[in-house]
Amino acid sequence: MDAWRIAEPGADTEDVVWTVDLSQAGTGVFEVLSEEEQARADRFLRAEDRDRYVASHAALRLILGRRLGLPPRDLAFEAEEGGKPRLAGSRRGACRFNLSHSGARALVGLSRRVESGVDVEALRPMPDALRVARGHFAPEEARALAEVLEAGRASVFMGLWTRKEAVVKALGTGLALPLSRFEVSLPPAPARLLASGDPRLDPFAFTLLHLEPGPGTVGAAAFAAPDARPALRALPGDWPRRLESA
Ligand SMILES: CC(C)(COP(=O)(O)OP(=O)(O)OC[C@H]1O[C@@H](n2cnc3c(N)ncnc32)[C@H](O)[C@@H]1OP(=O)(O)O)[C@@H](O)C(=O)NCCC(=O)NCCS
Repeated sequence: MDAWRIAEPGADTEDVVWTVDLSQAGTGVFEVLSEEEQARADRFLRAEDRDRYVASHAALRLILGRRLGLPPRDLAFEAEEGGKPRLAGSRRGACRFNLSHSGARALVGLSRRVESGVDVEALRPMPDALRVARGHFAPEEARALAEVLEAGRASVFMGLWTRKEAVVKALGTGLALPLSRFEVSLPPAPARLLASGDPRLDPFAFTLLHLEPGPGTVGAAAFAAPDARPALRALPGDWPRRLESA
């Protein structure tokens, strides 16, 4: 199990991956979002998608606001060309971050110096894991997954998937970069970028981490540096109360 340390979000300067329990967020956190975020939240059809969106963006604002010494409501965002959100306005470039959410869990990657990408997935049955891997992953990954016993294949697939998503999110391309263009290690092997057919992805220039962010979830983080050692932090369970005083 990862060594997550419960901590107050603060103005530390090191690389960090935060894990957040979204289940306690309640409705009060909606007010901290921008009008644009509130409008997007209201377009979700399913209440659980809306609630997860609201809670994860409120938690992101709390973490970034504390780090930058700004009220969470005052942060402004814009999208890079490939869609990756970044800080806008006076704090543009002050800190790089990435967000992922699934089920009741969010991950936030933070760094002052390099890009990061994070991905969390709630573990669930994956009857079509091999079909997806053969259709979208590198051939060597699909072959290795086929050798995993069926009983354990879904969790290995999800681990592999989060490693690959973390990489494309660090790059900022999202799924516009074909997932077959590079190869990562399969769990339970330590997370590593093994090979790449894309000039933007040098296996020696990325650090990959396997994460277990909360019960029933698997995750990964990628940092665009060969030597990244991010601290693993967990927001206290009553984090929404910090927004009232922030
Ligand atoms: C970005 C992407 C990888 C998200 O993956 P996901 O597992 O569905 O969702 P996650 O919770 O892990 O991440 C979502 C967050 O990633 C961030 N994000 C969005 N675009 C991103 C990008 N290009 N790079 C990095 N991060 C991105 C946002 O903060 C987003 O949060 P929000 O949706 O609440 O605003 C994926 O949706 C994607 O690639 N989208 C853009 C390209 C696309 O749609 N291609 C389709 C062709 S196949």
